[in-house]
Amino acid sequence: MDLRHAIECDAPEPAPLPPGSYRAILQESHDAAIVLDDDMKIVFANASAVRMFGYSRRALLGRPIDRLLPESARKQHVGWMRSMQRAEVHSRPMGPRGRIQALRADGSLIWIEGTVVAYQIAGAPYYAALLRDATQCVEAEEQLQQLAADAQRLARARSSFIANMSHELRTPLNAVIGFAECVAKASVGDLPDKYREYGTHIHEAGEHLLAVINDILAMSELESRQRLLHETELRVRDVADQVCRMLSIRAAKGGHRIVADVPAHLLLYGDAVALPQILINLVGNSLKYSTQPGCVRIAARLLDGGELEIAVEDQGVGMAREEVSQATQPFRRFAKDSLANVAGTGLGLAIVDALVWLHGARMTIESELGVGTTVRLLFPTGRVRFAS
Ligand SMILES: Nc1ncnc2c1ncn2[C@@H]1O[C@H](COP(=O)(O)OP(=O)(O)OP(=O)(O)O)[C@@H](O)[C@H]1O
Ligand SMILES: [Mg+2]
Repeated sequence: MDLRHAIECDAPEPAPLPPGSYRAILQESHDAAIVLDDDMKIVFANASAVRMFGYSRRALLGRPIDRLLPESARKQHVGWMRSMQRAEVHSRPMGPRGRIQALRADGSLIWIEGTVVAYQIAGAPYYAALLRDATQCVEAEEQLQQLAADAQRLARARSSFIANMSHELRTPLNAVIGFAECVAKASVGDLPDKYREYGTHIHEAGEHLLAVINDILAMSELESRQRLLHETELRVRDVADQVCRMLSIRAAKGGHRIVADVPAHLLLYGDAVALPQILINLVGNSLKYSTQPGCVRIAARLLDGGELEIAVEDQGVGMAREEVSQATQPFRRFAKDSLANVAGTGLGLAIVDALVWLHGARMTIESELGVGTTVRLLFPTGRVRFAS
C-alpha cells in the first residue's frame, strides 16, 4: 500500500479533510516529517527533513534510519520505536527525555525533539516522526546550567571569604577596642588629657568599624541563606524594654525619648537574637534621622485578622517616596539636607527586611519628609501566642 493512500485513508472522523490534504500539510510543514516502514527504512521525508539533515531526498528514501542516528543511539532508539507497536502506544514524545541526538550528512550532531507516531496500514507497521531542531535550545539550557553553577560557586566563595575576613578583622579589632578603652580611662596609670582623648577616639572608631563588619557578615549570612532561625516564645514587651534600655544613652544625647507601648500578654514565636536586632536597627534609624528632640515609639498590637503588628514611629526628617522604595536595598543611603554626615553603611534596613522575611512577616514603611517615619512589621497569626 502506498504511503499517500495510507495517510489519506487514516483521516480522523468525523471531519475528513479533502483528499491530498495530509500529504500537503506534511510536505509544507516547518517541522521535519519522516516516515519509516517496519524495516526501519525511510519511506517519506518532507522538505524540512531534507534541510534539517542535509541529505537530498533521494539519499534518504529507502535508506535505513541508522543514517540519521549516531551509532551509540541506534539500537536503543529502534528498539524503543518497535516497543510502541508491541505496547500499542500510538504516539510518544521523541526519546525518553523528549529529545534525542541525531546525525547530519556532514557528520555533525544536532538535538531533535518532537513526536513519534506508530500506526499500522493493513497490518503493516509504520512509524512517523514530526521533528524540530532543538540544538539551540539545548545549548542555551546547558549555558544556563553552567551559569547557575558558576554563580553558586561564586556565591559560596564570596560567603566564605567574607566570613573568614570578618573573623580575621574582628579578632585584632576587639584588642584595639579593649586597649583603647584602657587608654581612654587611663586604667593603668595617669595619662595626659590629650592621650585620653585620643584613646576615646580610637575606641569610638573601633566600635564603629566593628559594627560595620558585623553588619556585612550578617548580610552575607542572610544572602547565602546560612542564617537559620532559633525560635522560642518571646514576650514582645520584654524585648521592647531591652531595646529601650540599650539605646537610652544614645537617645538622651540627642534629647530624644524612647517609649514602648506593648501589651504584656503578647508573645511572638520568633528568634531571640533577630527580634532585638530588628528593633535596634529601626529605633537606631529613628534616633539617627531625627534632628529635633522628640519621642520614638515602639508599639505593638493585635490586628483584627489575628496578626501581630509591631511599629516603630518617629517624628524625624522622614523620607521622600523614592527613598522609601529603595531603602531596603543593601548599601543604599540617601543624603539628608537637614543632617550632615550621618554615619552608616546602608545595611540596617536590608538586614531587617531579610530577618522579617525569614519570619514569614512583612515590613511596610510610611514616611513623609519633615513629618516622620513609621515602620510596621506584620507577623502572621501562626507566630502569635498569648501569655497566660
Ligand atoms: N527613620 C528614618 N527616617 C528617615 N530616613 C530613614 C529612616 N530609616 C532609614 N532611613 C533612610 O534609609 C536609608 C537606609 O537605612 P539603613 O538603616 O539601611 O542604612 P543606614 O542607617 O544609612 O546605615 P546602617 O543602618 O547600615 O548603619 C538611610 O540612609 C536613610 O536615608
Ligand atoms: Mg540604619
